[in-house]
Amino acid sequence: MTDITTPNTTITPGQHDTEVTQLFGSDGPLSQAIPGYRPRSPQIDMAKAIARAIAGHGTLLAEAGTGTGKTYAYLIPALLWGGKTIVSTGTKNLQDQLFLRDIPTIRKVLKAPVSVALLKGRANYLCHYHLERTLQNGRLTSREDVGYLRDISRFIKTTASGDKAELSRVPEGASVWSLVTSTKENCVGSECQYYQDCFVMKARKEAQQADVVVVNHHLFFADVALKDTGIAELLPSANTVIFDEAHQLPETATLFFGETISTSQVLELCRDVLAEGLSHARDGAEWAKLVAPVERAARDLRLAFPQDIVRLSLDQIAPSSPFFEALEALKRGLDDMIAVLEKQAERAETLEQCRARAILLLDQIEKWNATPDPKTNDGEYVLWVEAFSVSLQLHRTPLSIAPIFNKQREGTPRAWIFTSATMAVKNDFTHYVSQMGLWNEPAHTWPSPFNYQEQGYLYVPDRMPDPNSRDYTDAVIDAALPVMTAAGGRTFLLCTTLKAVRHCAERLKSEFEQRGLDFPLFVQGTAGRTELLDRFRAAGNGVLIGSQSFWEGVDVRGEALSLVIIDKLPFSPPDDPVLAARISAMEKKGLNGFVHHQLPEAIINLKQGAGRLIRDETDRGVLMICDPRLISKPYGKRIWQSLPGFARTRAEADVVAFFRQLKQDKVTPAE
Ligand SMILES: Nc1ncnc2c1ncn2[C@@H]1O[C@H](COP(=O)(O)OP(=O)(O)OP(=O)(O)O)[C@@H](O)[C@H]1O
Ligand code: SF4
Ligand SMILES: [Mg+2]
Repeated sequence: MTDITTPNTTITPGQHDTEVTQLFGSDGPLSQAIPGYRPRSPQIDMAKAIARAIAGHGTLLAEAGTGTGKTYAYLIPALLWGGKTIVSTGTKNLQDQLFLRDIPTIRKVLKAPVSVALLKGRANYLCHYHLERTLQNGRLTSREDVGYLRDISRFIKTTASGDKAELSRVPEGASVWSLVTSTKENCVGSECQYYQDCFVMKARKEAQQADVVVVNHHLFFADVALKDTGIAELLPSANTVIFDEAHQLPETATLFFGETISTSQVLELCRDVLAEGLSHARDGAEWAKLVAPVERAARDLRLAFPQDIVRLSLDQIAPSSPFFEALEALKRGLDDMIAVLEKQAERAETLEQCRARAILLLDQIEKWNATPDPKTNDGEYVLWVEAFSVSLQLHRTPLSIAPIFNKQREGTPRAWIFTSATMAVKNDFTHYVSQMGLWNEPAHTWPSPFNYQEQGYLYVPDRMPDPNSRDYTDAVIDAALPVMTAAGGRTFLLCTTLKAVRHCAERLKSEFEQRGLDFPLFVQGTAGRTELLDRFRAAGNGVLIGSQSFWEGVDVRGEALSLVIIDKLPFSPPDDPVLAARISAMEKKGLNGFVHHQLPEAIINLKQGAGRLIRDETDRGVLMICDPRLISKPYGKRIWQSLPGFARTRAEADVVAFFRQLKQDKVTPAE
């Protein structure tokens, strides 16, 4: 791997070094504007390296520990020298954090006249057309939805962006959103009477014109598959692309570089064909009879599998399974449907849309099924099915995203910055680089600016049962309660599954009541993420229970967060067919799938979760990992050696004493 000191650039290396040093220096503008600011040399060096990569249109993998301040380290060079820049981050939540908090701060500090736009996926923006239709003829089933709809119709009159995240009163998952937002399929486009006011179009136009556009990885990669996110128009003119939380890219890209067909798409099509056929071409066909076999086949596909949610690769499905028969029936039914639609399509625009959708679906299904030997020209694919409660999805997932991603990076030279706290395992980038196909690109790790040994403990409780045992989550709570109490709340309890989140929430609620502890409890799913975090920060003694989405990027500085508890080592579920296929491909090459894939992935996840704790030089706290495998298994050592270098203990008394000391220091501060 090349070192970052020799970037492949024709521009003088480090032309902005002096400016960066000055900006981040102790008398610089950042220091004056940001409370608690201290120059951090890893942050400054990283900013210099990024400035160089930007100037030379190079690629850089920049890793620096959690809490180092990577955000400023890339925003400053990007805003000053990045030209047209796309910043992509892990979640919508982090997009909002960048757009509402970090970028305005830096823009003000630099007094830089850059324009910034936020771009999310289409489903995030209210659609005037569909709202209007729903208001006129919507058959809302619940009273709750009626109330939400009222809120939404009020909100649309005042909002400038139409972004549903601004209306926190209506929960993100409320079903009413699907009635008042658009999809690529049902957007009327330039013929829409609301086109001038359309929020989707407005967001895209603003993104076109802005210097800096904030997107998320899903949106970025969805575009490759759907060409419906506005990034396709954006990328050609971008000088700089920055991926924050870049460790997530392999997973997100895998999701989108593949293809998914859902039986609910088929059922939606049937519903629309029936409705549009009856209203525009009643005499053209026996519409109900036409859609019935397609609907039946779609349902039979789901019924071919047990009631539980299952994931199976194609070769795990028995050849005698009714699945294959249903798939053939579906193809025949769609074929018949298309034949009729071909004749009737000219009678209405909506029928024409149905025809196009039906052809596309059939095409995708045929493509999925036609390759039992999953070898195609653009690499190997894993074919698998996933059964949900009422639908079935057919997936076609690339075994490796490297060739596809590299194709994306071809063309006009521009800077590609990948940054994260966790791309490497102990300075070794091989795992990440080989997943992404970023061979021979400069990569560098900067050490953390924090003194973990002094700032906190890694606590692995004694006497925990096997993580697969039934009462494991209860044992986690039993071990956690005394520590939480000593910490005075101020806890993130991070779980590996949603089931554990729910169970912990119930138990803690009753335990807090019984013990008279007044720690406010914040549970993932009960409100939006931003709102939960705001309330957690404000509470000062809160306990937040969350799963994956709270493990990464979340920034709570200071005392509001002093204890991070992790229930289990985050190994990916072994029943994942894509993982299984990737592991078997590695094993064919003589590598050990556990050592070379599952373990590094788990370490990356764990480091992210652990990284929520120490966010600045004065932060102190305890990282409690309940999983006994950290000690008992041979690989455990590799894991804890990859974590920040906290002092380590297995004694509850040490931790309780640590928090007692923390309280005393607060009463009589050392400085
Ligand atoms: N030099 C600095 N001195 C003090 N605080 C800083 C400095 N730089 C950044 N910060 C603050 O430190 C916190 C952590 O910064 P940031 O969120 O950018 O970390 P990060 O490196 O992106 O971590 P993660 O990998 O967890 O996302 C933020 O609250 C930020 O405002
Ligand atoms: S153009 Fe599409 S998204 Fe915009 S208001 Fe019309 S239907 Fe909705
Ligand atoms: Mg960050």
